[in-house]
Amino acid sequence: MALLYKADPVRGAVWKQVFTAEAPEIDFRAWPEAGKLADIRYLAAWTVTPDLLASLPNLEVLFSTGAGVDQLDLSQVPAHIQVVRMIEPGIIDGMVEYASFATLALHRHMLHYRKAQDEGRWAPVKLVPAQARRIGVMGLGTLGRAVLDRLGRYGFPLSGWSRSPQQVEGVTCHAGAEGMPAFLAACDILICLLPLTDETRGILCRKTFDLLPDGAALVNAGRGGHLVEVDFLAALDSGKLSGAVLDVTEPEPLPPGHPFWRHPAILLTPHIASMTQPESAARVLMANIRQHRQGLAMVGNVPRGRGY
Ligand code: GLV
Repeated sequence: MALLYKADPVRGAVWKQVFTAEAPEIDFRAWPEAGKLADIRYLAAWTVTPDLLASLPNLEVLFSTGAGVDQLDLSQVPAHIQVVRMIEPGIIDGMVEYASFATLALHRHMLHYRKAQDEGRWAPVKLVPAQARRIGVMGLGTLGRAVLDRLGRYGFPLSGWSRSPQQVEGVTCHAGAEGMPAFLAACDILICLLPLTDETRGILCRKTFDLLPDGAALVNAGRGGHLVEVDFLAALDSGKLSGAVLDVTEPEPLPPGHPFWRHPAILLTPHIASMTQPESAARVLMANIRQHRQGLAMVGNVPRGRGY
């Protein structure tokens, strides 16, 4: 019974060390040294091709090495193969840090101060207490909940939105299309942590921005495909949105000359909000494989047909 790892080789070397030391019963193989392909029951990869899948006749589980699975064309993955996304402490911590940084940067007017500094202006603006800055998170999975938990400690009033109804302590939760207007009306800073699916593509659009309070700000650490660029730029121009922190774009990397590069109201980072940490990820994967060997549920299982 073997696990094939087919992703970044430098991180793969760390995975191999952890597996060798802590799970000698799992035969860890790093691409391209795949050995006998019929032995491979588990595949850990960021993307796969139909050819690769077809070459692994006994594959049971495909593990994404990242939190998302939108980079995989699930329609090309045979239905009997389970798909599992990466939910590991390193990714969660990274996202909590990034969302905190982005929220605090917007809350404390850092876009204004960066511009003022560029222009050599000493230009203080009134400090808004955290209690008066309402934060809303779209996506109430593991990442969204961890982010809300941390932001709550600053004293921001919190709300959350998800596709199906959820309950999170200390957070006003809304769900579905009917919950959207009330949710958005209470977001001075809107943070998108949704998975990208057919339903969420383009969700950050004019209709959404129009329902936000005037001068609201946006953080997108989901996927570039959530954002409708023309609507977003128009909302920044009109002042409906006062600023944004974007970690994701479509395409990535952002092409030279794209308006986001030099926009004074956009703080742009190159999809670095969070990264899978090889040591902790290897341990999560190992635990999942052991669960699967015993016929038990795995953390991060992606129900086929749901797509996240
Ligand atoms: C990064 O965006 C990931 O999905 O892990």
